[in-house]
Amino acid sequence: MAVAESALSLQLSGLPMHQLIALLCVSAVVYKLSVLLHKRNVAFHAMAAFPGPPTHWLFGHALEFKNDERDIVKNLKWAQHYPYAFPVWYGPFVCLLKIHHPDYVKTLLTSTEPKDDFVYSLIKPWIGEGLLVSEGQKWIRHRRLLTPGFHYDVLKPYIQLMADSAKTMMDKWERYAKTNESFELSEHVSLMTLDSILKCAFSYNSNCQTVGGSNTYIKAVYQIISLVNLRIRTILYHNDLIFYLSPHGYRYRKARKVAYNVTAEVIRKRKEALKEEKELDRIQAKRNLDFLDILLLAKDENQQSLSDEDIQAEVDTFMFAGHDTTASGVSFIFYCLACHPEHQKMCRDEILEVLGDKDTLGWDDLGKIPYTTMCIKECLRLYPPVPAISRKLSKPMTFFDGRTLPAGRVVGVSVFLCHKNASVWENPDVFDPLRFLPENVSRGHLMHLCLLQLGQETALVRSLP
Ligand code: HEM
Repeated sequence: MAVAESALSLQLSGLPMHQLIALLCVSAVVYKLSVLLHKRNVAFHAMAAFPGPPTHWLFGHALEFKNDERDIVKNLKWAQHYPYAFPVWYGPFVCLLKIHHPDYVKTLLTSTEPKDDFVYSLIKPWIGEGLLVSEGQKWIRHRRLLTPGFHYDVLKPYIQLMADSAKTMMDKWERYAKTNESFELSEHVSLMTLDSILKCAFSYNSNCQTVGGSNTYIKAVYQIISLVNLRIRTILYHNDLIFYLSPHGYRYRKARKVAYNVTAEVIRKRKEALKEEKELDRIQAKRNLDFLDILLLAKDENQQSLSDEDIQAEVDTFMFAGHDTTASGVSFIFYCLACHPEHQKMCRDEILEVLGDKDTLGWDDLGKIPYTTMCIKECLRLYPPVPAISRKLSKPMTFFDGRTLPAGRVVGVSVFLCHKNASVWENPDVFDPLRFLPENVSRGHLMHLCLLQLGQETALVRSLP
């Protein structure tokens, strides 16, 4: 307004048009810069109570991150130096408070603070506003509609489908074992978990494990995640226009399209099948309702169904969240057990005993393998498949040590650093499944964190009001 008024008075004083335009541009730049400087100032003040590693005035800590194991070493060093929490700057304006102690995490996650609008906005163009990203009334409505899909009765039959997928993978490995050929294990595991989620949640037989070659969906997801990480670390890419016009932005859009086409095809085929089956009762009599049926047939209290866009977003979310996390978890379980043959033997003996002369474990057997369960928990502690999540404060938050962070700030929970926190875990780098013996789990928060990684997160991280 002030700029427009001064421009008008200058025009009246007879300034030539090109000078007037130049003046307007300069004023706009000055205005934008002062807004940004104010934003930076506010962020600095907000973080005043939380000392952190030295930061570059322009790049913040962005140049410190190399996207490899050096980042892990750096983060561990910082966490050791700054107990509980420290600020991390991604450029001059974007800053989050990284927290790495369960008591801090508890304060944040027992509140109902929303997801932050920076990191989650970077995956929104791909998975849309599914459960992972959505907030408020939309999230509540969708969670209510989809909760029947998580009922034990729905989950129980999945165990046989998962066992079938695992058997296909093991048969392939048998062939490698015979020829002594080495192979990249995590690719096989990703195909196995994708095969499982397709069969369990979407009743879709893709044969993705046996068709050979690399899977376009898995490749696309891998590329999208790498590009999102790159975006977070590259200040210029925080701007949508610059990112989408860049070669990386082009690759992101291309990969997004590939992933989208796969999920859209799954939905299309089911919609066709449902048209033929017509009635819910007839479908139910024929087979168990799966997650996709629930999505397509769900109606809220006003008899409103989910829109096509909402269905696509939930399918994209489930396909990603349901295969990528489990692939990472299972791959690291193999890794840990390979590094610790003594524990591997204990698991093998325990499973063989429960198995008896059966082909595979059933639902009820899962409670009969405590040693294996402890090994799985310990792997997930050391290598959490979701290493961080974040929230944006809608009101000031005071943590247990009395330090307060004002509203509007982003808090990032480093699940990885929490799991490595020496004030919580004895010898945190050591693989020790026995730390999960019931008598050793004395502090409630330890289990809380591990459950976060065990897929029971939906009840703990965000529960329905
Ligand atoms: C080891 C396996 C898994 C781990 C470690 C894991 C971890 C997590 C974490 C930490 C969150 C919270 C994210 C946040 O608040 O920002 C989350 C949310 C979610 N996960 Fe998982 N997850 C796993 C498996 C799965 C599977 C198999 C599915 C689907 C079949 C799934 C679907 C979801 C969904 C839909 C959400 C959003 C829930 C909501 O906010 O309502 N996850 N997961």
